[in-house]
Amino acid sequence: MNKLLLLGLASGLMACGGGSKSDSMNSANPCGANPCGANPCGDNPCGDNPCGNPCGGSDSAGPMDVGVDWTGWATWNKVNAEPFVSKGHKKPWVNVYVPSEQVSTYAALEGEMPEGFAIVKSVHKDAEGAAGDVAALTVMVKMGSDYDPENGNWYYGVLSADGTKAMQEGKLAGCIGCHSSANTDYLFGTK
Ligand code: HEC
Repeated sequence: MNKLLLLGLASGLMACGGGSKSDSMNSANPCGANPCGANPCGDNPCGDNPCGNPCGGSDSAGPMDVGVDWTGWATWNKVNAEPFVSKGHKKPWVNVYVPSEQVSTYAALEGEMPEGFAIVKSVHKDAEGAAGDVAALTVMVKMGSDYDPENGNWYYGVLSADGTKAMQEGKLAGCIGCHSSANTDYLFGTK
């Protein structure tokens, strides 16, 4: 590979939020598969979409109904004491939240999570991890057994900070690719 190509690749990765600390993590695409086929914007599908929603629908499309009211995520139980630096995600500082009735399930992290299990990892703009500075939410929900049996039946989403818009959602290949390496049911936990 020549230098230019390498540079291009590297900046492409950066634009898409590569730059995780560990090399083994870098191989997976942190943006998820492109759900629209060829990208008509010719740009980073992970950031704010500069050309509207190329998959149809409107930019303000809410997340699909997975039985979770994402707008209340900030009132959920934060499982980590302090914001921490993500080992896998694009933006370094993160917090993890689960609904209070799921706290012990997530803490134990054993076997398969029950259907309806929902989790939010807030991704922060700055090094403080301040709750007011959420860049986006990455979310997962354990769906029914016919949702995606090959991949543990998880719904993945990248939502706006207020939980009202979905930038990406569904069976996102990029998320699956990396989360399938987690020890327990596609979950890494915060330990
Ligand atoms: C390159 C690897 C990688 C990719 C790609 C990735 N994640 Fe993660 N994810 C992690 C790791 C590692 C953790 C554990 C906490 C941490 O270090 O951030 C995690 C944690 C999470 C959590 C908290 C639940 C848990 O314990 O695992 C959620 C929710 C989440 N990711 C959602 C997503 C979504 C949605 C996508 C796709 C848009 C995605 N992740 C893509 C590596 C990845």
